[in-house]
Amino acid sequence: MNQFIYGLPKAELHLHIEGTLEPQMMFDLAQRNHLSLPFESVADVQNSYHLSNLQSFLDLYYQGAQVLCTDQDFYDLTWAYLQKCYQQNVRHTEIFFDPQTHGDRGIDFPVVYHGIQSALQDAKTYLNISSHLILCFLRDLSAEAAMNTLEQALPYQDGIIAVGLDSAELHNPPSKFQQVFERAKSEGFLTVAHGGEEAGADYIWSAINLLQVSRIDHGVRCTEDPALVTYLAQQQIPLTVCPLSNVKLGVFPDINSHNVKQLLELGLCVTINSDDPAYFGGYINENYLAVQEALNFTNSQLIQLAKNSFMASFLSQAEKDKYL
Ligand code: HPA
Ligand code: ZN
Repeated sequence: MNQFIYGLPKAELHLHIEGTLEPQMMFDLAQRNHLSLPFESVADVQNSYHLSNLQSFLDLYYQGAQVLCTDQDFYDLTWAYLQKCYQQNVRHTEIFFDPQTHGDRGIDFPVVYHGIQSALQDAKTYLNISSHLILCFLRDLSAEAAMNTLEQALPYQDGIIAVGLDSAELHNPPSKFQQVFERAKSEGFLTVAHGGEEAGADYIWSAINLLQVSRIDHGVRCTEDPALVTYLAQQQIPLTVCPLSNVKLGVFPDINSHNVKQLLELGLCVTINSDDPAYFGGYINENYLAVQEALNFTNSQLIQLAKNSFMASFLSQAEKDKYL
């Protein structure tokens, strides 16, 4: 089974590049940038990861991201993730990045963008991995700050396919960003949004109706509203599900209770992804393996999940057809 999952060509559609910062790299970059960390050792970092909900994770994730300072740092971070993709037969990846996490510490947009983008270009050349980049707005910050970030991104639009929404979901509904998303769409960006991870089905509806998203990131709480499940299935609006993340952050009490198999069997276009693999204990294949072990997918269901990942991607139809 292990080999079967490793061998499947896959696309990853829900991956925060800042969430791929492994403890060893956190230490290496802190040293390179002459920064001190509140940890003694790599093991100490791992032991500090007591995750219980989204906010407990976000606190660690934003603290970790502070070691990322130069375009070389962003290159190295992204390149390490792309090597994982190569090892795990991820042929295409759509990566989120959080420019506000860096801009607010004085790291300018072009530094972040160029570091990530040059690793993505090298991955195309040397690893034959294709990619798209998705700019995420931090939804716990203001709509004005998001608009400002969108304006900073306009000169780099050729390399950014979509905008998304991440960070603390509760009390930060999609409606807060309706104008920003309207502007982004008028500038030619596609849209996605995290939804139905921490908040309920109503946030998924408003991401669809107010932000016109192409996909919902997470979306697992859609089952709280049967009419929404029917709509997602009918419209084939993809969900980018992240099983290990959901268990670590308490969205489900354990992997056996995860609803990803139920959603697949209800006819939704679900995909499997890793979210923040350095924090949640596994990259994409570990996510496939965890749900396979707990929920017993048939081989044809696993193939369906992998095909869904290409179908739900922002590749052109001709590019998708190579994998379907
Ligand atoms: N949810 C919300 N914000 C995030 C996540 C997530 O899963 N990962 C990184 N930022
Ligand atoms: Zn996420």
